[in-house]
Amino acid sequence: MKPLTINLPGGSYPILLEANCFALDEIKPLWQQRKVMIVTNQVVAPLYLAEVKRQFGDQPVFSCILPDGEDHKTVASWQLILDALAEHQFNRSDLLVSLGGGVICDMTGFAAASWMRGIDFIQIPTTLLSQIDASVGGKTGINHPHGKNLIGAFHQPRAVVINASTLNTLPTREFNAGIGEAIKYGGINQADFFYWLAAQAAAIKALEPDTLMSLITQCCQFKADIVEQDEKEQGVRALLNLGHTFGHAIETATEYSYLHGEAVALGLVMAAEMSAQQGYAGPEIRKMLENLLQAFDLPIMLDSPISADDLLNLMKSDKKVVNDQHRLILMRGLGDAFIADGLTDADILQTLNTCLQPGGSV
Ligand SMILES: NC(=O)c1ccc[n+]([C@@H]2O[C@H](COP(=O)([O-])OP(=O)(O)OC[C@H]3O[C@@H](n4cnc5c(N)ncnc54)[C@H](O)[C@@H]3O)[C@@H](O)[C@H]2O)c1
Repeated sequence: MKPLTINLPGGSYPILLEANCFALDEIKPLWQQRKVMIVTNQVVAPLYLAEVKRQFGDQPVFSCILPDGEDHKTVASWQLILDALAEHQFNRSDLLVSLGGGVICDMTGFAAASWMRGIDFIQIPTTLLSQIDASVGGKTGINHPHGKNLIGAFHQPRAVVINASTLNTLPTREFNAGIGEAIKYGGINQADFFYWLAAQAAAIKALEPDTLMSLITQCCQFKADIVEQDEKEQGVRALLNLGHTFGHAIETATEYSYLHGEAVALGLVMAAEMSAQQGYAGPEIRKMLENLLQAFDLPIMLDSPISADDLLNLMKSDKKVVNDQHRLILMRGLGDAFIADGLTDADILQTLNTCLQPGGSV
């Protein structure tokens, strides 16, 4: 397929999407005659590491296999990547490659951003969420016990290489979590895509290859369009956080018992409720979101109670509080998200108390 390209002031890079192969051959100049370190995890390595290594031919390729899961998106895992780079004497002209879901993409990117003040890296995302979101756009990072992604850097990959057939081995719950991020794009500025997702739900759930390729292409293009306008989140890129400030707090409060995309689903419902409470949108937005989320078996209500005060406190450490006032992404309508500044603790508590009460859905 013709690659998508992200054009940024510091350089452009391709997103290579193929139905059934890793198109590393198409970017040979990027990796030829460089040492390569593939960072992956204990789940993905047995599935795809040998195949990806083969693509590099005679090239010296090392691998760093990390423990699996969001619980391991930590300083300790980042250190393991740096240790592997040190052990094999990687220098600025060498290359890191991520092979895995968003956790591996984010950690590999952060290791690339920090090793010797920045080396090149390539993303090979293998979950739906990472193919449509996490691998694209250059946000890298790890979690801190005080919250999600609190440690990180902007560092763009040199290429994103997507093999859609990797989704065939992805557990259904993980696949659906990825759809949470796709629905987010619908809420931000892609109402037509929202209706497309609803119309194609059966084909998407059946992993119909052409439909999946179309889904991934559309989402990568949506993300590229926003990142090209605002690489470092000084403005419009903040829209991509729709549902995320609530979602990150839910993830931390529940010690990551929800998958990231599931927490985003819950966060989207809260953002829709808050949009209505603040008088920006009617209640139908929340209902439409809930219907589509449920079509993909995503949660719209918490399965165990969390206190509103705890969530509020976690939201305060989510990088989006300015002068004690909250910045959240709300909606004026479906596909019409905007940055709402100056929201108070009381505004947030009103939404949390509505959503968290019995029968309040989230
Ligand atoms: N940088 C960004 O812009 C950005 C955007 C969105 C999300 N994120 C981050 O992405 C992370 C979530 O990513 P995720 O949902 O991909 O989770 P993940 O990386 O934990 O992957 C989900 C699970 O699927 C397994 N897996 C991966 N590929 C597989 C495959 N092909 N077959 C079978 N199993 C496979 C993983 O080992 C893991 O157990 C969060 O940490 C989130 O903060 C980052």
